[in-house]
Amino acid sequence: MGRVTIGILTASTKGAAGAREDTSGDVAAAMVAGEPLQAVVAERLIVPDDRPAIEAALRHWADDLRLNLVLTTGGTGFSPTDVTPEATLAVIERQAPGLAEAMRIASLKMTPFAMLTRAVAGIRGETLIVNLPGSPKGVRECLEVIMPALPHAVDILTTRVTDHGATNESQQP
Ligand code: MTE
Repeated sequence: MGRVTIGILTASTKGAAGAREDTSGDVAAAMVAGEPLQAVVAERLIVPDDRPAIEAALRHWADDLRLNLVLTTGGTGFSPTDVTPEATLAVIERQAPGLAEAMRIASLKMTPFAMLTRAVAGIRGETLIVNLPGSPKGVRECLEVIMPALPHAVDILTTRVTDHGATNESQQP
């Protein structure tokens, strides 16, 4: 069984233009490399807040590279330029609302602004795509919430777990 492969896509017009250092992707990369995923960060990319650019990266990483998990950072808010959820919804085949729900519920205990992220999560092929907010703090807090479920999510998606009815103790949180 190979290691979990991850892509981290940052949507930031200023970051893509080099006008602002974007550290949200660094936070996500460091976290997924540690326990429990110990994933390989196979792809990192910063694109502008541009639907076609975001959709193209997501399609390429899911269809051609077949990454297990893609985390996006940024572009989930109410600004007219925030289009990451729309780009994600355009490429996913199945929604995974529980992940976004869990992040918002937990984040609301930290900031009322958690109501202002429109983040979505879903599945394209064997790739799970999850939107995270753009601030490094938001990335850390949201990723901490879903991290315990990610190894099992990837296992099921890649049919590493074949009998969904059976209890596999190693898969329990
Ligand atoms: N969630 C957590 N856990 N922590 C945060 O600091 N920031 C919020 C929200 N979600 C935040 C959070 C804020 S201020 C905004 S505007 C929205 O995410 C959208 O952020 P984005 O547009 O950078 O994606």
